[in-house]
Amino acid sequence: MFHQQEVQKSLNLFFQKIRLKDQNQQSGKDKTAKIGQILSYLEIIHVQVRKYSKRRELVLIDCGAGNCYLSFLVYYFYTQIEKRPVRIHCLDNNPYLMENNHRRAETLEFKRMYFHTCDIADYAYDGRPDMVYSLHACDSATDKMLYLGLQTEARNILSVSCCQHTNIKKMKGHPYTGITRHQIFKEKLAYMVGDSLRAMLLEMHGYQVDIIEFASTRYTDKNIMLRARKGHVNNVAQLNEQYQKLQQTFNFSPALENYLLTED
Ligand SMILES: C[S@@+](CC[C@H](N)C(=O)[O-])C[C@H]1O[C@@H](n2cnc3c(N)ncnc32)[C@H](O)[C@@H]1O
Repeated sequence: MFHQQEVQKSLNLFFQKIRLKDQNQQSGKDKTAKIGQILSYLEIIHVQVRKYSKRRELVLIDCGAGNCYLSFLVYYFYTQIEKRPVRIHCLDNNPYLMENNHRRAETLEFKRMYFHTCDIADYAYDGRPDMVYSLHACDSATDKMLYLGLQTEARNILSVSCCQHTNIKKMKGHPYTGITRHQIFKEKLAYMVGDSLRAMLLEMHGYQVDIIEFASTRYTDKNIMLRARKGHVNNVAQLNEQYQKLQQTFNFSPALENYLLTED
């Protein structure tokens, strides 16, 4: 998607503007990794939304946006390269970062980017977004963004979780201690179980979900993405049974389950 020379040149200049590359087109290890992550993420966003009419404004919500590198790239790509209208709401509870993002957006003249300093759980959107997404939203912030996606009936939800401290702590009393006595495996297992349970909750609420590696492990070891699209799901009873079994085996549920229960 970004292989045409013109597009690459344009993106490289943009990376200079948002300080992911210096004037000589160089960037350190962390920024190179961030560029790799956000380019891969954008490709997946584009696959999901490219079929929507270009005349209609895309509405996207970035949860736990941090310094918004991903959303700045997304906004640039749609407005400058794809030439289609887009509006992005960026949410983060860190006021310092959001103030910086706001100033950067003004400098770049990205007029349809909005920055909300708030907890994801406190954000209400009146309407149906095309996509709710997050990249490395910490711990239960991922559950909050998934819940926001469900509440707003977003057409698409993309989520790459980060640390799952709460799930790791809760995962006790299961029969696989031969695996989890190794801390590294314990973490990997908690990730797999946590994200599988989240995926099933989304499916049971009318989303088709697949779990993919969104970027190379060269750029991040936290590279597992839940990719969900609103659609028909017809095996809900079976999913419910699988969910209960998995939840009972590992003795924990993701916070998303609680958010959904308190709603009922
Ligand atoms: C690991 S950073 C990821 C930032 C960015 N998405 C990226 O990939 O570079 C996680 C961000 O989520 C924000 N965050 C964590 N919990 C949150 C919550 N409950 N509501 C809003 N923002 C939250 C933090 O302030 C932080 O900026």
